Amino acid sequence: METCWLCVVLSAIAVYVITQFIRFLFADGDFTLLWAARFGTSPESTFRGKVVWVTGASSGIGEELCLQLASFHARLVLSARREKELERVKQMCLERSSLKDDDILVLPLDLLDRASHKEKTVAVLKHFGTIDLLINNGGRSQRSLFVDTDVDVYQALMELNYLGTISLTKQVLSHMLCHGKGSIATVNSVAGFVGVPLGTGYAASKHALQGFFNSLRTELTDYPDITISNICPGPVVSSVVQNAFTEELGKSVASAGDQTHKMTVERCVQLTLVGLANRIKEMWIADQPFLLFCYLWQYTPTVAWFLTNAFSKTRVQNFKTGLDADSAYFSKPKVKAS
Ligand SMILES: NC(=O)c1ccc[n+]([C@@H]2O[C@H](COP(=O)([O-])OP(=O)(O)OC[C@H]3O[C@@H](n4cnc5c(N)ncnc54)[C@H](OP(=O)(O)O)[C@@H]3O)[C@@H](O)[C@H]2O)c1
Repeated sequence: METCWLCVVLSAIAVYVITQFIRFLFADGDFTLLWAARFGTSPESTFRGKVVWVTGASSGIGEELCLQLASFHARLVLSARREKELERVKQMCLERSSLKDDDILVLPLDLLDRASHKEKTVAVLKHFGTIDLLINNGGRSQRSLFVDTDVDVYQALMELNYLGTISLTKQVLSHMLCHGKGSIATVNSVAGFVGVPLGTGYAASKHALQGFFNSLRTELTDYPDITISNICPGPVVSSVVQNAFTEELGKSVASAGDQTHKMTVERCVQLTLVGLANRIKEMWIADQPFLLFCYLWQYTPTVAWFLTNAFSKTRVQNFKTGLDADSAYFSKPKVKAS
């Protein structure tokens, strides 16, 4: 009889483990995030009426964040350098929601112009009276080998992705500290905690952000209602590769390359907003095998290094011969970069 109960318990554990393994094979976010997506607070109710400031709102992930937040009736501040694109995104937000013209503020902003960040923050407060959530999303990537790249490119990446982001954060955080509540979320990257070939400067800037925000969170323990979130997506369909820095300032990427293995921007944003609604501190959003890589990097770095080196070798070789580096993770690339 006793043996029988033991068999039942062991069978139940085996079924549970196998089920979790199968779920993991199809997962596109870390376990906490997917749990929140099923059982947690819904973004619809969380963001209704809230004031959300999105940087990098003129395209890609930032644009989609605005569209989905508008459908949840959040009031929005749209920032990036290209005002015309911001107006286009605003129109799309208005068409897809019951928001009024006044509920969406187009506020052109250059993250590199740190002297302007105070006056931009004042402008938002003048318009809406408060800022509930800042989403630091604006930024640029990199496609070049370190040995071929000017140090000026490294400076530019840090100025934009790191210093631009923390400069705006400083202004907005002052307001949140006065009110004792608010959220600051940063679209980081899987490259914020793993090593990636062709993106040494990009990874450095994202690692810097990761270290900065994790440390900032520890300074805010007296403010339990202020949330700091790091969003770490893997590859997502957007213009990020086309807009990436290369070997020298002013030189653009020859080809955006293969995007077929990337997650859709809609799904990335859907999960991001679930994570923010549930005040998750760090979220990994990536299709397989990138999600598996995140877990390996976190828990078994030696295995992660072995696999990363194998993939990186092909990727670097493809880049050097002018082939599409991105498809190298999955198959022999067929696309010529130029
Ligand atoms: N797509 C991916 O695979 C992926 C993966 C992980 C993380 N990310 C991160 O996601 C964020 C958004 O990227 P994306 O994929 O949506 O690429 P994207 O379409 O190129 O968007 C980048 C955004 O940043 C803005 N931006 C660039 N320079 C700026 C500056 N000096 N001042 C203000 N805004 C500036 C751009 O607007 P303007 O040109 O109008 O200024 C644009 O709206 C980035 O931080 C990126 O690192 C992307």
